[in-house]
Order: sequence, then structure tokens, then C-alpha cells
Amino acid sequence: MIAGTDPLILGVESSCDETAAALVTSGRAVRANIIASQHDLHRKFGGIVPEIASRAHVESILPVMDQALEAAGASPDDIDAVAVGNRPGLIGSLLVGVSAAKALAWALDRPLIGVNHVQAHLYAAALDAEPIEYPALGLVVSGGHTNLYAIHSPLHMQRLGRTIDDAVGEAYDKVAAILHLGFPGGPVLDRLAQQGDAAAVRFPRTLLDATSLDFSYSGLKTAVLYHVRGKPQGRGSGATFPRDADALSDDQKAAVAAAFQAAAIDVLIAKLQRAMEGLSAQGDRPRSVVIGGGVSANSLLRQRVAEFGHTHQITVRIPDLAYCLDNAAMIAGLAHHRLADHRVDDLTLPAIATTES
Ligand code: KG4
Ligand code: ZN
Repeated sequence: MIAGTDPLILGVESSCDETAAALVTSGRAVRANIIASQHDLHRKFGGIVPEIASRAHVESILPVMDQALEAAGASPDDIDAVAVGNRPGLIGSLLVGVSAAKALAWALDRPLIGVNHVQAHLYAAALDAEPIEYPALGLVVSGGHTNLYAIHSPLHMQRLGRTIDDAVGEAYDKVAAILHLGFPGGPVLDRLAQQGDAAAVRFPRTLLDATSLDFSYSGLKTAVLYHVRGKPQGRGSGATFPRDADALSDDQKAAVAAAFQAAAIDVLIAKLQRAMEGLSAQGDRPRSVVIGGGVSANSLLRQRVAEFGHTHQITVRIPDLAYCLDNAAMIAGLAHHRLADHRVDDLTLPAIATTES
């Protein structure tokens, strides 16, 4: 663990379906990282139900904050600032964390710091680790985002590209649903893919225009759907399919998982490659490549990004598994840099569902 003293920041995260609190000193030393996942509540619906998510956050938020303090052996008075992920996310979910953080900051008379959840994912690789070397090439891959960035510093980044339809994590979840693997699908599909023959099926790699740094995953998802279930009769929600995933053997399911994963990750690496070439050509060659978000837990992506860094002779920064999925340590860690810049918020801090950055 990194030695760290001041300041001690409490981070709060409730943007989606994890209620989390963490205590971080010096921006990188994680003293507690508590995450209450709601997966069991959403599983039977096959996806996140926003109203259920916000109610579950209300129940968990105070216990999770208490547990973080207990795990760190700290008391509320020890907290120097309160940070909260206030954008983007599900509005009802965000409001729970933002309200709790405001109440605590007000009661303790400490600074309040609103943090962009997507930017925090790109900071997660610095937790319990060395500082990230900038400029960096950044890729956020989660259930809601597939974004590429040129990162100048922890708080300054320029978005180079984003998905024009599904996020890559969303594609994982939808393909897992097509294969009847349960929710959330990413981790299960990742494990199944490791047993499958990726060359048994070939799915499309959508790269868009020759210079585009945007992503598109809906074509890949549809290709998997038609491969597994056959061509639909009828259109839209009334469409019927000749078969479903039960018609596949276990080997065939594993092959579909592996072929999907190969196509999904190939596209991410191809776009990193394009961005690397573009930035280098304009004299902004990155010193490191940073990934973050739930899909950065993926075994093939971690391996391929490591190879990418090796090929380009740049440092590879992949978060520890504990910091890939939604967590509050990344919120508290990034907030450290805001506090150091004296850029804090007040009690008018809004919860914002979408963000352009
Ligand atoms: O960052 P995150 O926890 O929440 C959002 O901000 O969206 O990411 C959740 C996403 C889900 O779509 C989940 O299926 C995916 O990350 N995921 C994975 C893996 N672990 C989680 N996708 C692929 N491989 C994994 N090992
Ligand atoms: Zn996230």
C-alpha cells in the first residue's frame, strides 16, 4: 500500500447499480473500498431497473459509508472532504449519492467535490499504484460508455471518439442474454469465451469511416443474434425467430462467445491504434495507454492492451480488478486533484444524467 497521510477524502458512488463508499488519502492510497452490488435485485429482469436501483441505493448508502469508515479505522471527523460521482448516470440513482454527500459535507463543514464518473474510470489505474504518466491515451469501456480520450492530466482530457449506438459492455450483456448466460453478462461471457474456438465463427468488425475514432456495436450484436437464432420473420418486437440458444451445444455456445469477444476486442484495439497514429502524427505521442470501466476487467482486453503497449513502447495502465467496476475509490482519488487545485463545489451541486465530456 502507498503511504499516505493528508488529505483523507470520502468518496461516494451511486450512478448505476453499485452503492459504494471509499476512503482515499493522497489521491492514490485506498484505505477502504466498500461496494454493495444490486445485481441480485436486477437479475430476474435481465437488466437494470432504474426505480429499483434508486430505492436500493437509499437502503444501502448509509451502511456502506459506515462500513468504509469502520474498515479504515476512521471517524467522520477525520474526513477532510466529501466527493461524489454526480454525472453521468441514472438520475434517481445519482440523486441518492449526491444528497448523502451534501448532507455529510454540510454536517461536517467540509468541502464537497462533484466528480465525473467517466473521468474517474480513467483515473482508477492510479489507485494503489504509481501515478499515471501524461499525456495518455485513454479508453473507457463500460455498460454505458465506449469512449476514447487524449488525456493531458487527471482532470483534463479531450474526447476523440465514442460509440454511436451500443456501448461495448452493453453488447456483452445483450449477447450474454441471447446465449441465456444471465446478467450481468460480461464476466460469464468472458469465462465461456476462454473455452471456445474463436475461429469457428467469424463476426463483423465495424470500424466506420477509415479515419473514424467512433465505435458501433449494434451490428455485431445483431450478427450474433441472427447466427444463434436464425433470420427473423416479421419486424420489430413482433419478430419471431426459428430457434434459440438452446439449439446450440455447449461447444457451439463457447465458440459464439469466443468469436464475439474476438470481434469486440479487435475493434477496441484497432481504434486505439488509429488514435495512437493520429496523436503521434500531430506531435502529441502518448506516454501511456490507460483503460477503465467494467469491461477493463476482461481477460482478452487486458492481454491485448498489454501487447499494444509493448508494441508501441508505452506504459500500460490497467486498473486492479477491484477498481475496474464501479467503485468510489476512483471518485475519491480523482477528487484529490480537484481539492489540490482548490476547485470545490457547494451545496447547489446538481446530479446530471448525461454529460458531453
Ligand atoms: O463500469 P461498470 O461497472 O458500470 C458502468 O459504468 O456501466 O461496467 C459494467 C459493465 C457491464 O456491461 C458488464 O457486463 C461489463 O462491465 N463487464 C465485463 C466484464 N466484467 C464486467 N465485460 C466483459 N468482460 C468482463 N470480464
Ligand atoms: Zn462505470
